[in-house]
Amino acid sequence: MDGYTNGSQFDYDRAREVKAFDDTKTGVKGLVDSGLKTLPNIFIRPTHELLEDLKTPCVKLQVPVINLEEIHNKDRYAEIVKEVLNASENWGFFQVINHGIPSELLYKMVQGVRMFHEQDAEVKKKMYTRDRTKQVLYQSNFDLYTSKTANWRDTLTVDTSKSSGHLDPKELPEICRDVLLEYYNQVLKLSDILLELLSMSLGLEPNHLKKMECNKGWTAVNLYYPACPAPELTQGISKHSDSSFLTILLQDQIGGLQILHNNQWVDVQPIPGALVVNIGDLLQMISNDKFKSVYHRVSANHIGPRISVAFFLHGPRSSPKLYGPIQELLSDENSAVYRQFTLSEFLIYFFSRPLDEPGLEYFKLHNHKLESSNNTTISSTSLTKSCSFSF
Ligand code: OGA
Ligand code: NI
Repeated sequence: MDGYTNGSQFDYDRAREVKAFDDTKTGVKGLVDSGLKTLPNIFIRPTHELLEDLKTPCVKLQVPVINLEEIHNKDRYAEIVKEVLNASENWGFFQVINHGIPSELLYKMVQGVRMFHEQDAEVKKKMYTRDRTKQVLYQSNFDLYTSKTANWRDTLTVDTSKSSGHLDPKELPEICRDVLLEYYNQVLKLSDILLELLSMSLGLEPNHLKKMECNKGWTAVNLYYPACPAPELTQGISKHSDSSFLTILLQDQIGGLQILHNNQWVDVQPIPGALVVNIGDLLQMISNDKFKSVYHRVSANHIGPRISVAFFLHGPRSSPKLYGPIQELLSDENSAVYRQFTLSEFLIYFFSRPLDEPGLEYFKLHNHKLESSNNTTISSTSLTKSCSFSF
């Protein structure tokens, strides 16, 4: 990984430029505010990648939209379960409308995140950190020192993984504290409903996924994508899949989120009042590949800022509990594809590889022998390498 920052693969001193950018403590927004008209080197994607992208077509398709309005009606409930099943198997993404979180709160949340990022740079600077022990971190590019190309976005991360989902409100920035608290609480309630629907669509008891503590730990990333002077040369977020069980995403009306569906990029069109839900790698694994965690990315844009909030349900990361394909789903015809693992082992592996490369192979049973011999090396080195693990 360090090869990327030692300058040898670039015709500029990448390590120096990355460090200089980080030292400003004002992120991408700070660059824009300084009146910059061209893109700094560290954000420019390699030519081969840009050309590769031109080969992948973008198509006009609509990610499934599921209306939760009449969820309490028994017949409609059964239909919703089928829609969730279809979307989770075939798309890995869907949007929910009439999900119970008032549009007004969604609007206020977007404004709250915007206010955080647009407040006085000196106030914000004090919160800029790469200290992973903190519950609340403001930074740009959590993988700045390991990625090949930096992304055009800044992040306020709220990470409850070290406190089993408990958040200390005092840690939140004052300027948006109340709305963040209110929004996260409501999303957690919605996550109960979604986990129930997902359990049912897997043919399990309604509380199965909740009992597995899938929503016991969570991380929210409050993202700010400033308008970009050369969006075709960079990206808002590079192609990746989420490490979570489930992600619930609020996006404003600018657009830019795309998912890879049948090898074609499909826009996730913003719908006022909707939330985007996607299956993460952990749910793909425990569903034994029934549900799909798919690649997605965010393009940079001339217009902006774009604001979004990704809420990752990732379970109790410090628990010794073992996760693996759910027993009830296995049979002679459907044998386990993955071995068992702890959430911390999963996380360490997930972030020790390039994010745009497949992350699940390592946990596949046919690879098990090979990996267990490597296990010790991975666990001892990677804990120190681990970043703040969220976008
Ligand atoms: C993420 C992500 C999408 C967005 O943070 O993992 O995919 O629209 N975000 O910001
Ligand atoms: Ni994502």
